[in-house]
Amino acid sequence: MNYRHNFHAGNFADVLKHAVLALVVQALCKKDAPLALIDTHAGIGRYDLWTAAPNKTDEYKEGIGRIWDLAQVPAELSVYLSLVRKMNGQHLRHYPGSPQLMRQLMRPQDRLVLAELHPDDALTLKAQFHGDRQVAVHHMDGWQALKAFLPPKEKRGLALIDPAFEEKGEYERLGKALLKARERWPQGVLMAWHPIKGQDEQQALDDMLRSAEVPGILAVRHLVRTPSDPKLFNGSGLILINPPYKLDEQLSRLLPWLAEKLAQGEGVAAWLDWLAKDV
Ligand SMILES: C[S@@+](CC[C@H](N)C(=O)[O-])C[C@H]1O[C@@H](n2cnc3c(N)ncnc32)[C@H](O)[C@@H]1O
Repeated sequence: MNYRHNFHAGNFADVLKHAVLALVVQALCKKDAPLALIDTHAGIGRYDLWTAAPNKTDEYKEGIGRIWDLAQVPAELSVYLSLVRKMNGQHLRHYPGSPQLMRQLMRPQDRLVLAELHPDDALTLKAQFHGDRQVAVHHMDGWQALKAFLPPKEKRGLALIDPAFEEKGEYERLGKALLKARERWPQGVLMAWHPIKGQDEQQALDDMLRSAEVPGILAVRHLVRTPSDPKLFNGSGLILINPPYKLDEQLSRLLPWLAEKLAQGEGVAAWLDWLAKDV
C-alpha cells in the first residue's frame, strides 16, 4: 500500500467528490429516520495541508485553494465550503476528508462506519474519533467492509467507496463491488469514485453497469483538461446508485461552474450520464 491521501487532499478530485458527498448526505438528512453512513476507504479524516506530504505536490492549490474563499459560489457548494471554512482561519491550512464531512453533517440518530486498511491511517482515525459513540473505526479491507456491513440495520443511508486505484483491474473490481453492494442493500445510496487518465478506461465499468439491469445509476464525470496524455491525472468520476431525488438537477447547475474554476488546460468538461435511468 503506497498510496497516501495526504499528497492529494483537497485536490480537484476531492472537491468534486466532497461537494457531491455533502449534497447526498444533506438530501438523506431530510427524512428523520436514522442513517447508516459507511466509508470503505476512509483515509485519515482530516488533513493538514501545510505538512510535508501535501507540500510536495501542492495539489490542493489547484483544487480547494481556488474556491474556498470566493465570495460568490453556487448555492450547491455552500454547505461543503462552510465546513471547510469552519476548520480554517484567514489561511487555508486544514481540509476535511470524507469521514469528517459526514461526521459534521450527520445527526444524533445516525451512525458512521469507517474502514481503512493502512495501519497508521487506521490508528490516526481511531484516535480522531475516540470516545465518539456514533462512529466506529475498523482497521480492515474496504471491500470486505462492504460484505460485513451491508445491509445495515438502518435501511437508509450511504456507502462511499473511494479506493486508491493502485492496482490493475480496479475499475472492474469497483463495478463488481457496486453491483454486489446494490444486491445486498437495494435501498442504499452507493457512491464510488474513480480517476480519469486516458480517453475511455472507464468504458468497461460503464458497460458493466449499463448491462446490469439495475435502475438509477448516475455517472458524474469531470475533466480538467483533454485526456490526451494517459499518464496524467486528467479528471475524475463518481458513480451513484440510487442518487437522491433531484441530485442530477443540482449537479447540472454546479458542474459548469466547478469545471471552469478547476481548469488546468484546454478541453475542460463536466457532465452527467445516466447509465441506467432512475425509476
Ligand atoms: C482516496 S483515499 C480515501 C480518501 C477519503 N475517502 C476521503 O475522501 O477523504 C483511499 C484510502 O484507501 C486506503 N486503502 C487502500 N486500500 C484499501 C483497502 N483495500 N481497504 C481499505 N482502505 C484501503 C488508503 O490507505 C487510503 O487512505
